[in-house]
Amino acid sequence: MSRFTLVLPALLLFAPALSAQQPSTPTPQKTPTYAAIPVEAIKQPNPVKFTPESITRAKKWWTLDCAMCHGKDGNGKGETAQDMKLTLADFTDPATLKDRTDGEVFYIIKNGHNDMPPEGPRVKTEENWDLVNYVRSLAKKKTDAEQKPQ
Ligand code: HEC
Repeated sequence: MSRFTLVLPALLLFAPALSAQQPSTPTPQKTPTYAAIPVEAIKQPNPVKFTPESITRAKKWWTLDCAMCHGKDGNGKGETAQDMKLTLADFTDPATLKDRTDGEVFYIIKNGHNDMPPEGPRVKTEENWDLVNYVRSLAKKKTDAEQKPQ
């Protein structure tokens, strides 16, 4: 009798829930309220430094999983977003994510939100943080104050 006998059925129970996340019914609630994000998640510091390497690693995932909605440059005008009639925030505007912590952005990418699909287990934890850095890198730098790290 091995421990797997217990672990395996538990995993099988979760697997369909993870793969069935594609939005099938449109959610009526459109206003992004991220109140459900746990405080610990919000406070979680970004363990991955904002470096060119991190940005390069993230670019692959951004192109594969995000650009179709958020747009290649992050302006929110990706083709899929237009097809789905989604109005997305403009990440090229530094004001957009100014008040969000890296932990919050990480959580949103990991778990999704309303019409935003979860990245889930598709990327490693470190790559998920790379994506946080990437999203930040999209902001057009206007002043030095905007570039201050969290
Ligand atoms: C199917 C289209 C779609 C895809 C693909 C998608 N997003 Fe989103 N994203 C959204 C929508 C819609 C919202 C707004 C969520 C809401 O209204 O609750 C959002 C919100 C966000 C936010 C929060 C913005 C804010 O208001 O603070 C971040 C950060 C984000 N997305 C990053 C990403 C990243 C990184 C990827 C790729 C891993 C990605 N998204 C893929 C549709 C998408």
